[in-house]
Amino acid sequence: MWSASAAGKAILLGEHAVVYGRPAIAVPVSGVRAQVRVTPLAPGEGVRIVAEDLGCTFGLESDEPDERALPLQATVRNALDYFGCHAEGLALRIAIRSAIPVARGMGSGTAVATAIVRALAAFAGCDIAPQALSDLVYRTEVLLHGTPSGVDNTVVAFEQPVYFRRGVELAPQRVGAALSLLIADTGVPSRTRDSVAQVHQGWQSDPARYERLFGAIGALVEAARDAIAQGDIATLGELMSGNQRLLVELGVSSPELDRLVSAATAAGALGAKLSGGGQGGCMIALVTEATRASVQASLSASGAQAVYATVVC
Ligand code: PMV
Repeated sequence: MWSASAAGKAILLGEHAVVYGRPAIAVPVSGVRAQVRVTPLAPGEGVRIVAEDLGCTFGLESDEPDERALPLQATVRNALDYFGCHAEGLALRIAIRSAIPVARGMGSGTAVATAIVRALAAFAGCDIAPQALSDLVYRTEVLLHGTPSGVDNTVVAFEQPVYFRRGVELAPQRVGAALSLLIADTGVPSRTRDSVAQVHQGWQSDPARYERLFGAIGALVEAARDAIAQGDIATLGELMSGNQRLLVELGVSSPELDRLVSAATAAGALGAKLSGGGQGGCMIALVTEATRASVQASLSASGAQAVYATVVC
């Protein structure tokens, strides 16, 4: 048996603007993971992809009617090609299980794809460097999201805080003091593809306004990069809340997200914002040891379906 896992992720600042060449800062959520186990099958049984959480099994056939199979099949095919294995002669069961909520901006599809590639690397007896892993998973991201910036596959493949800018060599994000985060799920599924398309429509109809908003978000990200490196979490909190105001102007927040952001701030969070594509999905709050419990209770009382705590070092 060969197994591997991959972490969920949260975007601290910069989502959407990152698609338009501005920087973003993202962190892994290492305690919430996707797991993949690869086991041999009897010869002739082919490759079976078992999505345990969905209760579905898919082959590698291109006529599979269930559209959820496509990114999984593509990831397996791309990984097997990359490792020089011929899918046709193989008999393998690839079992997937994930604790990351689906369609909530926590990188569930990215983590599943990353864990598949890692598990198939183990099966093939190959090492894969984080950048090559990220590049391979980017191909799945294109199927999932259309025009991904690449931030999700990067932070999940490297599993460390990243300052990411499209087309620019990756810079790890220095963390001067541990960041204590709460990630709250609105329970409302949202497709990144849809929110990215909506922002794109807005940008097409009023490019000057959208470029101004993207520029303002980019400036907050630059300031946050320094604040995180210096361990200045009070400033980071203000920058995150400023980013949320700009995301509201971009039209990607939602009543549920606004409610959780207000609840976190009122309960003492240093900053709070949506994280990921928005229009549902998750929000993040920056807390301290002293405020974590009260913010968590307030998020749950305000309708959060789940609250995940993580510390980024
Ligand atoms: O996949 P999500 O929902 O975490 O969103 C990714 C962040 C976006 O900036 C909205 C899209 C992208 O490709 O960077």
